[in-house]
Amino acid sequence: MSDDKIESILEETRRFPPNADYAKGSYVKSIDEYKAIYEESIADPPAFWANLATNLEWFSPWDTVFEWDRDEARFSWFKGGKLNACYNCLDRHVNSPRRNKAAIIWQGEREDAMKVYTYQQLLSEVERFANVLKSKGVGKGDRVSIYLPMIPELAISLLACARIGAIHSVVFAGFSSEALYNRIEDCDSKILITSDGTYRAGKTIDLKGKADEALEKSKSVTSVIMVNNTGSEVSMTAGRDFWWHEEVENADLTCPCEEMDAEDTLFILYTSGSTGKPKGVVHTTGGYLLFTMETFKNVFDYKEEDVFWCTADLGWITGHSYILYGPLAAGATSVMFEGVPTYPKPDRYWHIVEKFRVNTFYTAPTAIRSMMRLGDEWPNGRDLSSLKVLGSVGEPINPEAWMWYYNVIGHGNCAILDTWWQTETGGHMITPLPGATTLKPGSATFPYFGIEPKIIKNENEECAANEGGFLCIDKPWPGLGRTLWGDHERYKTTYWNNIKGKYFSGDGARRDEEGYIWLLGRVDDVISVAGHRIGAAEVESALVSHTDVTEAAVVPVPHDIKGEAIYAFVTLREGLEGDDDLRKALVKHVRHEVGPIATPGAIQFTDMMPKTRSGKIMRRILRKIASGDTPESLGDTSTLADPEVIDLLIANRVKQ
Ligand code: WTA
Repeated sequence: MSDDKIESILEETRRFPPNADYAKGSYVKSIDEYKAIYEESIADPPAFWANLATNLEWFSPWDTVFEWDRDEARFSWFKGGKLNACYNCLDRHVNSPRRNKAAIIWQGEREDAMKVYTYQQLLSEVERFANVLKSKGVGKGDRVSIYLPMIPELAISLLACARIGAIHSVVFAGFSSEALYNRIEDCDSKILITSDGTYRAGKTIDLKGKADEALEKSKSVTSVIMVNNTGSEVSMTAGRDFWWHEEVENADLTCPCEEMDAEDTLFILYTSGSTGKPKGVVHTTGGYLLFTMETFKNVFDYKEEDVFWCTADLGWITGHSYILYGPLAAGATSVMFEGVPTYPKPDRYWHIVEKFRVNTFYTAPTAIRSMMRLGDEWPNGRDLSSLKVLGSVGEPINPEAWMWYYNVIGHGNCAILDTWWQTETGGHMITPLPGATTLKPGSATFPYFGIEPKIIKNENEECAANEGGFLCIDKPWPGLGRTLWGDHERYKTTYWNNIKGKYFSGDGARRDEEGYIWLLGRVDDVISVAGHRIGAAEVESALVSHTDVTEAAVVPVPHDIKGEAIYAFVTLREGLEGDDDLRKALVKHVRHEVGPIATPGAIQFTDMMPKTRSGKIMRRILRKIASGDTPESLGDTSTLADPEVIDLLIANRVKQ
């Protein structure tokens, strides 16, 4: 990891105290109350979490609340306790007055495509589909890969897996066949659930073709279950491919829940790391469910009659935790939207808020910035008065976008929750609480209960106020991923060996003199494009796998809408000249290897890379060159093997 990114220049003095009337009705009503609960949670985390764990329904109680082998980076929460995540998300509400409450309101891309699932209806669908999975030989502990667009079957698939104790691994439908193949192979999935295609801004995009390409190489998948979504022509492999609608038609309506240990794996979700192949983050049944349910209730201050909408895709952790598991465990009504923010018109999000009278809206800064650009007339043309709380996640929200969100969307009445967390952390870690926290635009403010952030420099020294450092968390909490699928060693070295005894997040941060935490971006080679984590190494290896390329280095550059974009330096095989055609071919190649989200915004051909004498590419320098910095600002270049390369690189800089 490098620390050259940890510099903080932001000076933000605006403050927004919670609305006093709102605070009266919220769970945590003042900063003093927050502090009191926080102190208690930190003084004895196991006692704190054990008390809350009674908000879940257990088939039998746990043996130990918390165990931790620090050296091995192994820990457990509620071990020996038996429960089922699907039971907690559905059955227990069906046995309560929530039975006929809307669990999921699904809005398709087409305005007239809409489905509402009550808790009872969703349970029936899940039970039937769980029986289909069983009929294909899926049992407890088996892995199921899911490659679906944002359609109800996606939510149903996850819950059905949870019901029978199968481990789901959702692969974002925007990923390429190669990325899908890698993720299937890594966890040895038995089953793939996919569909013929997906809709995107009025167009139909093929999915089955990509799935077939991945399956050509895969040895583990024995059955494919296909949702008939777009009605496109697809080829079906006899004996392997089955239609969802035909299978469920013949399935039994009831399916018992598997009793799972709190520490049994609920799911795997792949995320990019700074090196090598994607990491399969492993989340557990008890700790994850408890953490997402509690953060959901308290952070969004969810009330029984509220309509909650998280715009993320279920293919990412935000969707897992705050479209599905957190809201449903809490008995909430969760909106699920298939489409994009600007189709058919730039006010699509606001239209949906108006239509369903959404109370809590949770999105990403990149979406906020792109809608801000389209003009205030779009949100102004819709009735947004139902909104009470607005959330943001995925990347730092710049104060300008924050203010727009606050004034134009929230009309100055809604708290803005800038929630910092990660795939690995399972749920919210640093976040305001709407009735308690005085907000500062651009700051994620304070830690959630039970979470102890430390900002560290020089191995293990805590930073002073306003000093930038590595954001770490002391001690494991229930929602933290337990390991990386099949690679505990990598888990140890990535998260626990950098700063002794602390979870290392890979982000930089500073704490101001009032204790507010400000995130400073990644300190490793992970690029955040529109809030999605993309490992520089993944894009580089995709580039180098092209026959014309010998070496590639990929760095982030600032981007107005996406936060960061990808800038690639590429060295070609001896004798080849780079031109626009080759650029296009490389872009196409990366899109095929990784997926459209990893598309390089700019490719600069260079015969040489800036390297240390030991042959390591100096990304720090490339990052600055790509961002258009002056030669003087490049810092120390004396360790370069060949300092002349710098002038050449600056002279040949390309526009995004
Ligand atoms: C970044 C998404 C600043 C951060 C839930 C983190 C943020 C990575 C924020 C995790 C925020 C997320 N402010 N940065 N509020 N939220 N990040 O795993 O760099 O897709 O490490 O999880 O996104 O991305 P991931």
